[in-house]
Amino acid sequence: MGVTWKNLAILCATLGLAGAWIANAPADDEAVFPMPRGKTLVSECGGCHTTYAPGLLPARSWRRMLSELGNHFGEDASVQEPVRLALLKDLEDMAADGAFADLRMRRIAASVPAAATPQRITETAYFRYIHDEVPREFWQRKAIGTPANCIACHPRANEGHYGEREVRIPK
Ligand code: HEC
Ligand code: HEC
Repeated sequence: MGVTWKNLAILCATLGLAGAWIANAPADDEAVFPMPRGKTLVSECGGCHTTYAPGLLPARSWRRMLSELGNHFGEDASVQEPVRLALLKDLEDMAADGAFADLRMRRIAASVPAAATPQRITETAYFRYIHDEVPREFWQRKAIGTPANCIACHPRANEGHYGEREVRIPK
């Protein structure tokens, strides 16, 4: 892609302790987040933006989000109660601090202070850290618009695939 991404280890060294929790992540890790079986998450939560993988936020973040869907970032994203409960179960089960979380997800969870309940993946320390090398100008490109538009650069984001090798940055 014409850009040489800094080696993770060097990044961690420069970031010091803040990076310590990701220091052991293998650079060629495939970064695949599990997605729930069935189409409910995609159909209910993928209409306005990327279908974010549950493993990108801790369970308490999803609980809060799903209790406030009537005012979801200024939009009404409410769903019928049975649908809400089904979504909540999947999001909690597969959350960054859920029972099946892998090392990467546990690092995401660990990057969120215990007292915080972030509603934005893009505001977590993990997100900022992993995208530290992405030039500011990229985020503002027309085809991207916002860091929350994962699928603009991670073409298989809706299937939970975020691997570095698949990244394509639109011009
Ligand atoms: C009616 C449209 C709509 C629907 C449906 C919707 N969202 Fe959103 N969502 C938004 C908007 C608008 C934002 C804010 C985007 C921004 O500011 O970049 C957002 C942001 C988010 C973010 C934060 C992204 C970031 O910045 O890291 C998450 C997480 C999220 N939505 C999850 C969900 C989930 C889970 C569902 C299904 C229960 C859902 N959304 C359904 C419109 C929607
Ligand atoms: C402007 C394009 C762009 C957008 C938008 C973007 N990313 Fe990325 N992402 C990248 C690049 C480039 C890398 C590789 C970073 C590196 O290796 O230094 C990356 C790396 C990652 C990785 C680590 C992959 C690995 O193999 O270790 C994850 C996880 C990730 N992004 C998640 C997200 C999520 C979640 C979103 C949306 C909320 C998002 N990204 C939005 C460009 C983007």
